[in-house]
Amino acid sequence: MKLLNTFTQRYIDHVCKINPDHEVITGTKGPLKYVKIKNFLENPEDLKEFLAHFPAIDRFKSIEEDSKYSKIYAAGSKAPGIQQMIPQLYLMNLQEYLHVLLNKINYCRYPYDPSIWDFYTNYLDKDIKSFASNTVPHTDPFSIACNIYLTEVENTGTQFFKYNGINKEFYQNKYLQRDILEFNKFKSLSLYSSREEISSLNKEDLTDWEVFNGDSIFEEYHYMPSEYNSVSIYKGCFWHAIKYDAKNSTKERYSLVGAIK
Ligand SMILES: [Fe+2]
Repeated sequence: MKLLNTFTQRYIDHVCKINPDHEVITGTKGPLKYVKIKNFLENPEDLKEFLAHFPAIDRFKSIEEDSKYSKIYAAGSKAPGIQQMIPQLYLMNLQEYLHVLLNKINYCRYPYDPSIWDFYTNYLDKDIKSFASNTVPHTDPFSIACNIYLTEVENTGTQFFKYNGINKEFYQNKYLQRDILEFNKFKSLSLYSSREEISSLNKEDLTDWEVFNGDSIFEEYHYMPSEYNSVSIYKGCFWHAIKYDAKNSTKERYSLVGAIK
């Protein structure tokens, strides 16, 4: 057996091949504009197998090992579950196809530039834990997220939330931050105040993963189901959360995320 697990560009082209029969659907809900692509890939099972070869650090087990760097690493991203970083150069045809499509439908105005794309995966299973209140709605550090779903899991998707403030409602954090009265109130709510400031995690910070269905301040107004071999595209500045019922699901949720920075 060879030491290295190698592959060719032709194989990558095969696993990333776009299904010619895919369907593009656009929609709006309040100020949220979203895009859904159904039947996206011709060979989704092969892409899943290809990606599964990339290593990933188990952040939950690493936190339990109690080493300095694992605790810092684990706090570095509040994304739920386990991530694999995938070099974007391997996925050139996916990013180019998606970018040209988003330009064509006026969803993204920047011209295509390979260097503004990042790819990583999200993996969630029944052992997922929550930390730093990462089940509650968040906004992304990048502008547009393209989520390609590679497993069939019932009752999983992306929930979108609006914040019911004192005098008005907000769909995006950036508008809330411009309103000092409202933003100070938001920061005083303990669940939402400290999550960005955590720089190191201990095993005591890990708790059971609970589906967030809203509370007295956040209200769900839209839901995009994560259908197998579909792509959900939205702007990361809108509050959203992953819906995944870890307690009752026997299936793993695995997706490839292409992000425009
Ligand atoms: Fe997100």
